[in-house]
Amino acid sequence: MRPRVLRDVSRIDLSTTVLGEPVPHPILVAPTASQRLGHPDGELATARGAAQAGSLMVISTRASATIEAIAAAAPEAQRWFQVYVMRDRGWTSQLVQRAEAAGATALMLTADTPYVGSKRRSTKSLLDDVSMANRPSHAPIEQGEAHDPSITFDVIAWLREQSGLPVIVKGVLRGDDARRCIEAGASAVVVSNHGGRQLDGAVATARALPEVVASVGTDAEVYVDGGIRRGVDVLCALALGARAVLIGRPVLWGLTTGGADGVAAVLQALRDELHEAAGLAGAATIAEITDDLLTQR
Ligand SMILES: Cc1cc2nc3c(=O)[nH]c(=O)nc-3n(C[C@H](O)[C@H](O)[C@H](O)COP(=O)(O)O)c2cc1C
Repeated sequence: MRPRVLRDVSRIDLSTTVLGEPVPHPILVAPTASQRLGHPDGELATARGAAQAGSLMVISTRASATIEAIAAAAPEAQRWFQVYVMRDRGWTSQLVQRAEAAGATALMLTADTPYVGSKRRSTKSLLDDVSMANRPSHAPIEQGEAHDPSITFDVIAWLREQSGLPVIVKGVLRGDDARRCIEAGASAVVVSNHGGRQLDGAVATARALPEVVASVGTDAEVYVDGGIRRGVDVLCALALGARAVLIGRPVLWGLTTGGADGVAAVLQALRDELHEAAGLAGAATIAEITDDLLTQR
């Protein structure tokens, strides 16, 4: 970091917008599956904790509670819905419409999971009662079997036709792919390697981010996730050009150890650390977090 000195940082405003929606800070909750593995209240607790901390939550297609129940747990909160496009398009379409009816304001298409990457340290299948709560009764339970590995950029237009919602593409690691997503109708992309859980050896997101930001320009928004653990990591991501960050595992750790309050505590700590880091870097607003704060990109 190259902090600036003697800027008036007596007031620090972390508020911004994502796809035009005002948010109090740029720290969002990443979609993660099967949250009841961590806490009996699962996604319902995450929804409450995120709302308490002012974080927009992205609900996973693989949630272990219904979309409607998650929405009802925090009715006033902002939410997006993460989409895995299934071989059964009718199912996907129905999920999207349920999400829209439950107040989701955008769809996040996860593009890096044509197959679910194997995790050698957790090969046990999920307990039946935390399997996908939003699948139709005839759908396969097994991990990944249901995903359609044949989808291409055309699926973005298809997804847009299923609802009135904007589409964000998650899992983009290249400038050329980001451009193609936008040309195909995406409103934003998430630079993500799925927390290192898909292609082993995939580029770190902090390295991929500048290429994607340069390629997208002002035509769409760019968010990032992966390994964001401290406020200064958020500061760095924003300086590299991200508009917002998503938090995966730390939210699950908060959920597992403290339910809704644990989720809120994790997100509030990140927000408070970002507040401090911005102040110490000489940035009083999100707009003042620019790439000159970095020694290298
Ligand atoms: C247990 C777990 C489950 C996940 N499930 C999903 C999912 O259902 N859909 C999705 O798009 N990403 C999923 N992800 C990826 C996260 O959205 C995110 O990209 C990743 O965790 C990176 O952030 P982190 O380093 O803060 O965890 C999952 C990640 C974890 C750790």
